[in-house]
Amino acid sequence: MRVFYQKSELNASKNKILAKSIGLVPTMGALHKGHIMLVKRALEDNELVLVSIFINPTQFDNPEDLKNYPKNFESDLQKLKKLKGNIWVYAPKASDLYSEPITAKLFYFGSLESTMEGANRKDHFQGVATIVQKLFEVLEPTSAYFGEKDFQQLKIVIALVNQEKIPVKIIPCPIIRHSDGLAMSSRNKLLNPKHRAMAPIIYETLQKASALKEKHSPVQIESWVIDFFELHPEFELEYFTIADAESLQKTSILNGTKNRAFIAVKLGHVRLIDNVKF
Ligand code: PAF
Repeated sequence: MRVFYQKSELNASKNKILAKSIGLVPTMGALHKGHIMLVKRALEDNELVLVSIFINPTQFDNPEDLKNYPKNFESDLQKLKKLKGNIWVYAPKASDLYSEPITAKLFYFGSLESTMEGANRKDHFQGVATIVQKLFEVLEPTSAYFGEKDFQQLKIVIALVNQEKIPVKIIPCPIIRHSDGLAMSSRNKLLNPKHRAMAPIIYETLQKASALKEKHSPVQIESWVIDFFELHPEFELEYFTIADAESLQKTSILNGTKNRAFIAVKLGHVRLIDNVKF
């Protein structure tokens, strides 16, 4: 495994080896099993796998959230070192990717970003698209791997690649869960023990909501979820949305397997998201 802190060094080495396929796994570090599965998948498909570790400031609308985002660079490297294969880590400073002042580019993703995470985190996807485009331009991967845990992000990245005609294949990868059902996320590390013990309720609620779909409409299921969380005041429900899996627009009629249910809750100060096929 090699570690690069500057794009110029990484690209100089990359030009020497002329890998036919390069898989990119973009991350913000604090790596967990979900990330490791993305890297393993990328290793299966590619001669060289690049893992970027960079906490992107432009996708945070809250300075406290940015400051508190979990960081564990040494342990990230240890986890990656254990994997067999050709892995290069790119861990730049902001100045390697952004000029001052650090700002997001302007994109138009229409209704894909006007809902859920886009509606609740101001300019979040402008920041995500900015950094993902920069990483694609700098690293020129042939494929890039994104987890379905951030399903809306995945759709935005696909839209970005189409809009900007970036020659990279986007590979969606399934959500990885702890044995108690909680979706793996770097933010889980921020939960206190009491909240960590309660957090599996999020996925349990998604599953119970899904079981209601045979006899109930999306509107009825949404009110059931709202009522459920009113009885569990430790959770602050930000949204529960049953949406079309392509357009991400809220749906009032369930159409076969083309729907997904999305949830965002706060447990203490920690904001968690999850989603399931619906
Ligand atoms: O999913 C993430 O960790 C981030 O949003 C990403 C894709 C690495 C961009 O900063």
